Amino acid sequence: MKLSHPEVVDEVLKLMQPRELKLFTAGPVACFPEVLEVMRSQMLSHRSPEYSALHRDTVLRLAEFLEARRATVLLAPCSGTGFMEASIRNAVTPGGKVLVTSVGVFGDRYVEVVESNGRRAVVLRKPLGEPILPEELDEALRRNSDVEAVTVTHNETSTGVINPLKELAKVAKEREKLVFVDAVSSMGAADVRVDEWGLDIVFSSSQKAFGVPPGLAMAAVSEEVFEKAGKIIDRGWYFDLIALREDLIKGWSTPSTPPIPQVAGLNAALRIIEKIGGKNPWLEMHERRAGRVRSKVVELGLELFAKPGFYSPTITVVKTPMGLKSSDIYKSLRGRGFEIAMGYGPVKETTFRIGHMGYITDQDIDHLFKELSDVLRNLKRG
Ligand SMILES: Cc1ncc(COP(=O)(O)O)c(C=O)c1O
Repeated sequence: MKLSHPEVVDEVLKLMQPRELKLFTAGPVACFPEVLEVMRSQMLSHRSPEYSALHRDTVLRLAEFLEARRATVLLAPCSGTGFMEASIRNAVTPGGKVLVTSVGVFGDRYVEVVESNGRRAVVLRKPLGEPILPEELDEALRRNSDVEAVTVTHNETSTGVINPLKELAKVAKEREKLVFVDAVSSMGAADVRVDEWGLDIVFSSSQKAFGVPPGLAMAAVSEEVFEKAGKIIDRGWYFDLIALREDLIKGWSTPSTPPIPQVAGLNAALRIIEKIGGKNPWLEMHERRAGRVRSKVVELGLELFAKPGFYSPTITVVKTPMGLKSSDIYKSLRGRGFEIAMGYGPVKETTFRIGHMGYITDQDIDHLFKELSDVLRNLKRG
């Protein structure tokens, strides 16, 4: 029997990518060529010394990037939401209360995760486009002193708002609360200092700012969380943080099979960051890129959705001009070879989103805006 059938490669690629699109998505984002290259390697056993070496090297590099020397960095075979669920199951007593801060769809997802796991959510919600301010969190904690933890969406991907994480964590820590951070669309592009800011669980997904395909979730977890988890019996199996840490310590691996190609891809992304000079130049590149996108939005006479001062470094949300639909803008740009992201949640048709994570060049941005300008002109003409 012939085992080699090279023609299937073309068949599958035609199915999934009939033509190449430039991605300005909210994730999965365009991956670095080096990341894709290392992911093509033949598999190895996740119990082999070679995999342990890869896992260890990746964890140590990520810990360095996140400034997590006291906290434990974990990799898990799931998307970011897995760690959202893990935070509640491992570090909140069944029936216990959590203060969920919400500035959009992903804050609201945390509410659902809390409640569907038999805990109670107290919600501090702001109008869409606005951040949570430290004094607002302080007041909410004063009124709800019995909550065990506070959740923060670092970067709300649906509105393009970045919350002042350092200041919010300070307020929560002063009131001795655990701090859980959804950094899915910020980790890798915005500063996150796990130990210094006192963050207890910070999690993200591979398909966002590190520019790696989906399937791997990353988290940094504090000692306080492991202590609390030890007292919670029904914390489940798949998202048991203590079990994840045990396998890390025993053999630099995971209890269930990890997505080995994504771990290799993340390792390559972390090495690229190092080659360009480390964390600070890398974060500055994201700030510059986001600034370039925002100024081009304004040049086109369009309005930004987020409140000034809280603009996301990874995604820019734009108000759809009166009389136009964001789905039409999205479809027209796709026709011209660019995939942006539609609006999300309650602002689905009144906004559209331009992601700027992953493998994007300044020329790509300029080209996108040239096409966007043309698309808007044509749509307005009707
Ligand atoms: C802020 C935020 N939180 C959570 C998620 C969910 O992440 P995942 O799909 O990796 O579980 C997303 C995905 O876009 C997100 O942007």
